[in-house]
Amino acid sequence: MSETENLDQVRQRMEQLTDELEKHNKAYYVDNNPTISDELYDSMFQELSRLEAQYPQFKSLFSPTQRVGAAVQSELSKVRHAVPMLSIYTETDYTAEGAYNFEARMRRELELPEDVSIEYDTELKFDGLAINLRYEDGILVQAATRGDGYTGEDVTANVKTIRTIPLRAEGLPKVFEVRGEVIMHKAVFERLNEEQKALGLKLFANPRNAAAGSLRQLDPALTAKRSLNFYAYGFGEVSEMPVSSQSELLVYLKGKGFPVAPEHGLAHNPEELQAFHSRVAEIRQDLPFDIDGVVYKVNSFDRQKQLGFVSREPRWACAHKYPPEEVQTQVLDITVQVGRTGKLTPVARLKPVFVGGVTVSNVSLNNEEFLEKLGVKIGDTVVVHRAGDVIPEVVRVIPELRPADAKDFVMPEICPVCGSHAYKEEGEKDRHCSGGPFCKAQRVQAILHFVSRTAMGIGGIGEKLAEQLIHADLVKTVADIYKLKKENLLGLERMGEKSAENLLASIEASKHTTLERFIYALGVPEVGEATARTLASHFGALKKIEEASLEQLMEVEDIGPAVAECILHFFAEPVNLEVIGALIEDGVTWEENQGTKDEDLPFKGMTFVLTGSLPTLSRDKASDLIRKFGGKVSGSVSKKTAYVLAGEAAGSKLAKAQELGINIISEEDLFKLINQGDNTDV
Ligand code: IVH
Repeated sequence: MSETENLDQVRQRMEQLTDELEKHNKAYYVDNNPTISDELYDSMFQELSRLEAQYPQFKSLFSPTQRVGAAVQSELSKVRHAVPMLSIYTETDYTAEGAYNFEARMRRELELPEDVSIEYDTELKFDGLAINLRYEDGILVQAATRGDGYTGEDVTANVKTIRTIPLRAEGLPKVFEVRGEVIMHKAVFERLNEEQKALGLKLFANPRNAAAGSLRQLDPALTAKRSLNFYAYGFGEVSEMPVSSQSELLVYLKGKGFPVAPEHGLAHNPEELQAFHSRVAEIRQDLPFDIDGVVYKVNSFDRQKQLGFVSREPRWACAHKYPPEEVQTQVLDITVQVGRTGKLTPVARLKPVFVGGVTVSNVSLNNEEFLEKLGVKIGDTVVVHRAGDVIPEVVRVIPELRPADAKDFVMPEICPVCGSHAYKEEGEKDRHCSGGPFCKAQRVQAILHFVSRTAMGIGGIGEKLAEQLIHADLVKTVADIYKLKKENLLGLERMGEKSAENLLASIEASKHTTLERFIYALGVPEVGEATARTLASHFGALKKIEEASLEQLMEVEDIGPAVAECILHFFAEPVNLEVIGALIEDGVTWEENQGTKDEDLPFKGMTFVLTGSLPTLSRDKASDLIRKFGGKVSGSVSKKTAYVLAGEAAGSKLAKAQELGINIISEEDLFKLINQGDNTDV
């Protein structure tokens, strides 16, 4: 074999390896559908690296070996963008107004007759950093950050390490610049910060900062380790445009191997724009990356040209934001709250911030373990998170912003309310006040729990009044609530004749209750509404629960040894039995039965959803009734819903039920269903 022939073979082999490896790379990282084993990939990769070292003249511009990082650079050089990278008009009205404002502006600018609609492309607004990828003859030749919009930084070597960015794309026009967002997935971010912490390195405040820091590295090998991602949504300089609208562009880019987030669509009026905004708001938490809004773009490129630009923004696009889910604020103080069961909870008093749609000023710090993990001091700047309906939480401290006079916080070893010893048992996370009913904080909380809507449902007793009742010695145990007289109440602050009468009426009305509500109201540790309900339906009578052994308690569905132990303890305590006795003596009643096996109940295994207001039953009463007959009550309609119980002014749940073909019933139908099952009186 001649030497040229031999070299030809080497070159061919290198080309083949390059092609194969990139194909598998896309299958693995972009399509999430690996086609070969990691071992085979590695061995091909090593063979290619070896050949490239030996025959550098054949190394391809799009060799996958670049993805592990090239030589360290001394600086990132400047790049002038062929087409400026503009900013976007941002609509900060979080409500539907945002969508209407945009549509109104577009209609005005385009001067369209009323019966002509405008088509919009709707996309996610990624919270990362914009980047320009320049392809010449289908090969990635340069990647640059946005910078000031006109000049950015050359991050080509770093970008080549992002596995989802094609190093080559077949069939692209001669010059084609793809624009999109470099982001860090939330899971990658969490992992990175854990590693940084373990190594004593600085933490990143959020995924966007981490992505920016990782992309603007001088050492591409470092970028490679950070597992960045990319989503395409636009273009820069293009020698010849193959499509004529934004939605076609996204399809085209995807076809060429660029990652395009699947959450995009079309809209033709402000209602549809807003529907996209709302739909994305619901899935926002579940997306693997952060977004801070959605983007609306006039779809047709011709119309985009017609609309043109104002200063540095195109007129044809608009970002419609969401309230931030993560914000920074300062910890003004850390105080300790004492709960109903004596549990001490440290609470961060924050400089109020707007996050996830609400203003937050107090956030629980859970317990000592959490405090320690967080490493928070009074005066620190922290990141507060609240997504959807979840409870706000402090996720991390930003150590760079710690003031010199930041103060340490230690959990007290005495109860801040009653001064009793606050103990923490081996292996327990929580510290408890040992004061029991002597601790006023515990008594206040016990009252608030007892009167709460889903317990005895006594309206009109809030924290302030509960404190007064305790301080005035009018209420020592919850049973004393039923002994209150008008003349006692009138002596209290801000208690007039009328409110005293209302309160007494509400107390009187609460006397007739259900067994499950009564058990829940007692405040047995670890017994929430659901457990109270199963206890009530399993045993049927209070006496049987009081007398149940550990074994008998553990026979109940969903009750484990720890909960059984709590129940046993509670009913072994003479004080608790005295309170129960007093409550019954005061006239608290409920109906007892034999304790039904759940299977006998007519609604066993069925889920109900309530919407609108019913003619006679309150929502709580209707829920009680459904549960009494073995059913479950849920807040949202799904395919699994058995019945939607609809009343006056039913809303979106009714529409959803109709869409899914779920049985819709009235209050009257509910009574009929119950009476068909057996002849029990409702
Ligand atoms: S379009 C002017 N689409 O928003 C319109 N931008 O661009 C050209 N951004 O900082 C950009 N998601 O990082 C566009 N789906 C999306 C986007 C998006 C996020 C960011 C981008 C830039 C800013 C303005």
